[in-house]
Amino acid sequence: MPNAAATADKALQYIDSLKRIVGDAFVFTDEESLHKYAHDETENLHFLPAVVVKPRSTDEISAIMQFCNSNKIPVTPRGAGTGLSGGALPQLGGVLLSTERMNTILEIDERNLQVTTEPGVITEVLQNAVKEKGLFYPPDPSSRGSCFIGGNIAENSGGPKAVKYGVVKDYVLNLEVVLPNGAVIWTGANVLKNSTGYNLTQLIVGSEGTLGIVTKIVLKLLPFPKYDLLMLVPFNSLEKAGEAVSAIFRAGFTPSAMELVEINALKIVSKFVDSSVVPVTDEMEAHLIIEVDGNHMETLMSEMEAIAELLTKFDCGDVFFADDAQQKAELWKLRRRVAEAVKIDGYTIEEDTVVPRAELPALIRGVKALGKQYSFDVVCYGHAGDGNLHIRIKKPGSIYSLNNPDVIPALKALFELVKQLGGTISGEHGIGLIQKEYMNIVFDDASLQLMRGIKKIFDPNNILNSGKIFDMD
Ligand code: LAC
Ligand code: ZN
Repeated sequence: MPNAAATADKALQYIDSLKRIVGDAFVFTDEESLHKYAHDETENLHFLPAVVVKPRSTDEISAIMQFCNSNKIPVTPRGAGTGLSGGALPQLGGVLLSTERMNTILEIDERNLQVTTEPGVITEVLQNAVKEKGLFYPPDPSSRGSCFIGGNIAENSGGPKAVKYGVVKDYVLNLEVVLPNGAVIWTGANVLKNSTGYNLTQLIVGSEGTLGIVTKIVLKLLPFPKYDLLMLVPFNSLEKAGEAVSAIFRAGFTPSAMELVEINALKIVSKFVDSSVVPVTDEMEAHLIIEVDGNHMETLMSEMEAIAELLTKFDCGDVFFADDAQQKAELWKLRRRVAEAVKIDGYTIEEDTVVPRAELPALIRGVKALGKQYSFDVVCYGHAGDGNLHIRIKKPGSIYSLNNPDVIPALKALFELVKQLGGTISGEHGIGLIQKEYMNIVFDDASLQLMRGIKKIFDPNNILNSGKIFDMD
């Protein structure tokens, strides 16, 4: 791969060609635009592209890819830039291809409970549009108010509802994809079952924009559940909260959300979100946010009571039941803004570890021990029902944990622990740029070579989001 400066120069020479494809108004080389697209939500990383292009159609994207492939110009596809693993960072310069103008919901098929959409639609906008028809698209990452559905496909995103409803991959039926050489394919069919050949749809889901650019998406929908109930349960001990999680499922309940927030995270986020209704006290180490949903209120009430009763065995405090829509919204706002709040508070490096659910207490214990060993402050939160724990660290006295020499050994130790517990590095944020050096902890050489082989077949010139997930050699 040529160096970044050389590829940036090359991209600049071709601005006119890009303008001919998408129109003058949608090719940007001014400082402000380049800086705007130089970062995502991952740490303090900044890489300037040579040029930003904003195509409006599959044909334009196909033409851009043909052109860049022939001229071996690196292309970094980008949704809304809310990623947490650096997947949309143009670290090689080149062309930054934003899908923000591909923002039309094409069809809501009420007969088949499906939606066809372009990738640049904000996830919450899509959710609201189908909700108006009584339909439900469950995957709801914390950033759903700003992230794009295309980015969610690239990362195989999850969110709180995943514990009952599954993640993005469980809803994707069919994709239109522009390949690195400009060819346009559909990966499958708009059907609920499909045993026809290799599953190209699922190969693209979670491939972090390294195999192709998704230009149309067909998603499965569900009927929208009529009711939900939400409660906040404080625990004296973080580990006990972790133990309670698997006990709830073993007792036969499947909540529609089962989120964990450690007290230091809750206190930090309370500074940013008005939490007058939600009680936050210092004595408690952790809270679980538990939601149940369905079509029968009485069933939900008795489920909630039974869960609350079960939790008394795990040293919990007084349960707070959200009474109305406003309290629910406030509680969810607190939860959804944790990552952003702790980042502002100096906790960098968002880890996304995932272990089998019952191993959550062991993971929590291990994480706290590693924090002590490497002298990091550690904060934990996330999707406890999925065994998916977000971990952020802060080295007191150091501005950016990322530059701290202890970070790499600490993260290696963390991922080795996760592997030992039967888990893996990322549950929903992807590997991107910042975690690729740890892939050999969870995959052997043969598996990584297979992945490189797949990349090579799709992208022999290694131009599309190159250097993400793994390096080619
Ligand atoms: C969350 C994001 C960071 O769970 O995944 O808040
Ligand atoms: Zn999350």
